[in-house]
Amino acid sequence: MTASGIRPSAVETFAARERARFRERNPQSVALAERARHSLFGGVPMHWMADWSTPVPLFVERARGARFHDVDGHDYIDFCLGDTGSMFGHSPEPIARAIAEQAGNGLTSMLPGEDAVVCGELLAARFGLPFWQVTATATDANRYVLRWARAITGRKTLLVFDGCYHGSVDDVMVRQRGGQTVPRSGLIGQAYDLTQYSRAIPFNDVEALEAALAQGEVCALLCEPAMTNIGMVLPEPGFLQQCRELTKKYGSLLIIDETHTISTDIGGCTRLWNLEPDFFVLGKPIAGGVPCGVFGCSAAMAEAMQQARQRANQDSHGHGHSGMGTTLSANALAMHCMRANLEQVMTPAAYAHMLPLAARLAEGLRRLIGKHGLKWSVSELGARSEFQFCAAPPKSGAEAEAAFHDELQMALHLYLINRGILITPFHNMCLCCPDTSAEDVDRLIATLDQALDELLAIPGARL
Ligand SMILES: Cc1ncc(COP(=O)(O)O)c(C=O)c1O
Repeated sequence: MTASGIRPSAVETFAARERARFRERNPQSVALAERARHSLFGGVPMHWMADWSTPVPLFVERARGARFHDVDGHDYIDFCLGDTGSMFGHSPEPIARAIAEQAGNGLTSMLPGEDAVVCGELLAARFGLPFWQVTATATDANRYVLRWARAITGRKTLLVFDGCYHGSVDDVMVRQRGGQTVPRSGLIGQAYDLTQYSRAIPFNDVEALEAALAQGEVCALLCEPAMTNIGMVLPEPGFLQQCRELTKKYGSLLIIDETHTISTDIGGCTRLWNLEPDFFVLGKPIAGGVPCGVFGCSAAMAEAMQQARQRANQDSHGHGHSGMGTTLSANALAMHCMRANLEQVMTPAAYAHMLPLAARLAEGLRRLIGKHGLKWSVSELGARSEFQFCAAPPKSGAEAEAAFHDELQMALHLYLINRGILITPFHNMCLCCPDTSAEDVDRLIATLDQALDELLAIPGARL
């Protein structure tokens, strides 16, 4: 029995048709996939690129704005947008220009330039936190903030929400099962017990939050303002304020990861909802799609970091091996692109375009679900909208996961791909960028409508 209300055998009939159609429609992708198997492990440069709904990876030739073009000559409207990495469109003009400007001026030197100072000032003005560090990815930013949090508090335990994702940081790879923290399944090569210093509790559960914090061992709560990686789970009214108050009460820090929720507002949920975190993390679109992450902190944290650094230097006689930073962190190219992004791309005008389109998309999805008599729901947050296979929007990671119907999700995604539309893999998230148009949104809704017509016409499709 699946929560989606759709019979698995009907999904398989539908998916088989679409897989055949994909292969027929994409001979160049099929040929490249075959060639790639001889030099790339699993036929892709990063393993998860083989995990999409397509029978072989879809190979991209070029992308611009809200569109990309595949190697077989098809155009696509992109609602995935590199899972937020290209949230302001593919190759925005100012970023393409910034890359060209920096290209002949040195890409990485392990030294700062004026761009770094300007970025620090822009980040502080925008997000309201006074001090910043720049990393190569959001994963790195989370990993380093966790180091700082442990150093500052002298505590080791990290608290996260069940179903979270904050990049490939080992410490967050835990789930909650039957009230206990357990390692996430499928962790290849994980050598030590992650449950020793990590705890997972349900989102929107104030009682569990207080019980976990009250033990006095938690260095920090690391969270997204709304969960976005197990499908979308929005915070209940007042929950994030409780996160702030209770972490303060029990001497733990609050780290807000806005890597995805930056789609909400130019200052993220942090500014929109006045969340006042100790640390703030952002990556993906911050340099317009060029690899870059940042973390910011309050003045009190900056002082505590100084003290932690002095203690560490005393212990190690001045040899500051911090375990933080990579050679390419804050490289000249990333800094120049981040500056261009903050000044010219990630603007109020961009959000003013994106947000109403996402609302139109969410409205269209709701209409569609109603029309087909399905017990599915839609969640929206800023420029992202998501449909989930459950009657009411989920309140926790476990509820969101219970609504998963992977085969159905993949079959619908594949149907869309076969008709020139891409949405985010692994769940049903659709993101609008400054180049997305109302016609693009309407085409997504119309194509999904057609998909549901065909799926539900299969005898016995409805459970
Ligand atoms: C909320 C959140 N934080 C951090 C990350 C890590 O980003 P990256 O993979 O670019 O390091 C992700 C990736 O999906 C994310 O969703």
